[in-house]
Amino acid sequence: MTRLQRRTFLIGGLAGAGATLLSSGTAHAIAYPFTLGVASGEPAADGFVIWTRLAPSPLNADGLGGMSSASVTVEWQVADDQNFTQLARTGSVTAEQGSAHSVHVEVTGLQAGREYWYRFRAAGHISQVGRALTAPATGTSPALTMLFASCSHYEAGYFTAYRRMAEERPDLILHLGDYIYEGGAGSSGVRSHVPSTEISTLANYRVRHALYKRDVDLQAAHAIAPWAVVWDDHEVENNYANLVRNDTSPAGDFRARRAAAYKAYYEHMPLRAAQAPVNENMQLYRRLRWGSLATLHMLDTRQYRDDQACGDGTKVCAAADDPARTLTGAAQESWLLNGMGRHLGTWDLIGQQVFFAQKLASADGAKSMDSWDGYTANRRRLQQGWEAQGNTSTVVLTGDVHRSWASNLMADYTTQNRVIGTELVTTSITSGGDGNAAETGLSSLNPHVKFYKNQRGYVRTVTTPTQMTVDFRALDRVTVRDYPIKTVRSYVIQAGSPGLQAP
Ligand SMILES: [Fe+2]
Repeated sequence: MTRLQRRTFLIGGLAGAGATLLSSGTAHAIAYPFTLGVASGEPAADGFVIWTRLAPSPLNADGLGGMSSASVTVEWQVADDQNFTQLARTGSVTAEQGSAHSVHVEVTGLQAGREYWYRFRAAGHISQVGRALTAPATGTSPALTMLFASCSHYEAGYFTAYRRMAEERPDLILHLGDYIYEGGAGSSGVRSHVPSTEISTLANYRVRHALYKRDVDLQAAHAIAPWAVVWDDHEVENNYANLVRNDTSPAGDFRARRAAAYKAYYEHMPLRAAQAPVNENMQLYRRLRWGSLATLHMLDTRQYRDDQACGDGTKVCAAADDPARTLTGAAQESWLLNGMGRHLGTWDLIGQQVFFAQKLASADGAKSMDSWDGYTANRRRLQQGWEAQGNTSTVVLTGDVHRSWASNLMADYTTQNRVIGTELVTTSITSGGDGNAAETGLSSLNPHVKFYKNQRGYVRTVTTPTQMTVDFRALDRVTVRDYPIKTVRSYVIQAGSPGLQAP
């Protein structure tokens, strides 16, 4: 786009603002609509997704954000520089009420392996500026600085960890699930959920997403780097499995509830059209490539799983080892192994939700039925599959458990034979509150599990063709604003030699 076109955009912006003033009192005036910020995601070598949603009154109970039924044209710009003096791509898209006036633009035609800036304009208003990056070109392997996070309960604390993530200016951010929580307003948190009851309708899921997205710390993290997201359970309902609900409250058809939750999730995330929901389903597992350095296999461990064995919970349960039971579903299992078998990059990074390594809770063999320990045959097929096809730089990235953990993945957990991969479990952004830095969680029952910390934060990895350096980042408090971030444990993982090493 030329300098002249940029002038037109800016003058148009001013004219738009004037028009809003002139037409105030008419149905066409829209108050500042970018209250939920901007986001980018799904980086590829030639582009990425940019996202925003028009919502001048984001918490309106109807979930429509204060917008009328009218469609609104949203213009967008992607620039080479933060001041938008050199525009790389521009366009416009229509925001419609059927999508809660959210927009997902799949920008293409960009250069590989560099940063860009983007912004939107609608109804005379100009959005915040976001920073995005394209992935490196195939055949190149520049270092990747990545942060990953999970479990951001709005009531349990302030989103300081998101602010600190933004300050690190990473190349890529993963969110591994529990981006929102579905429960009603509690009484013990630092702030309260809206709506105040457990959400189960499309309007309520939209309002809940808007509540979270209004948070300025979360907005900063979205605006600094592209994200790749996958959900866990709380984006719909605690511990649901496929179309099996966890409990009977609130009453109603769970298929319709899941459809509403998936739709609202899609509307609020920087995802591609390939991920748009179809009825009650949504194709969320997918692959992202970071040049020839790393392949990100992003899993969905909720939508296709068999119901938790033996009534869920933590117990000794023979059904957990039934080879017919699955966490991923058969299609996703073969998709993962086939994709890893293509050896597209040095590293295979598996972004997923629930604890992957075996973790015995007691000497009698009790394990968590919601995690991979409840689906051990599925886990064994994956581990044996990637080992057999020579994936020697596999790192499983996990969320869910509100604690930091680091483990070696073993060919046989009982005999502790052969390390065949590494698992890094990020703690929560806020869930669980401040935590307890002195708490110990390691057990001689699980010698392959090397690190535990009960504090809030995230994980930073810096990946090169020869090694990954890992820093577990933590805050002392999240119930008080603005605590600093610090590294509480570091590891190195060598390419081709799985397992945790001292830095
Ligand atoms: Fe969680």
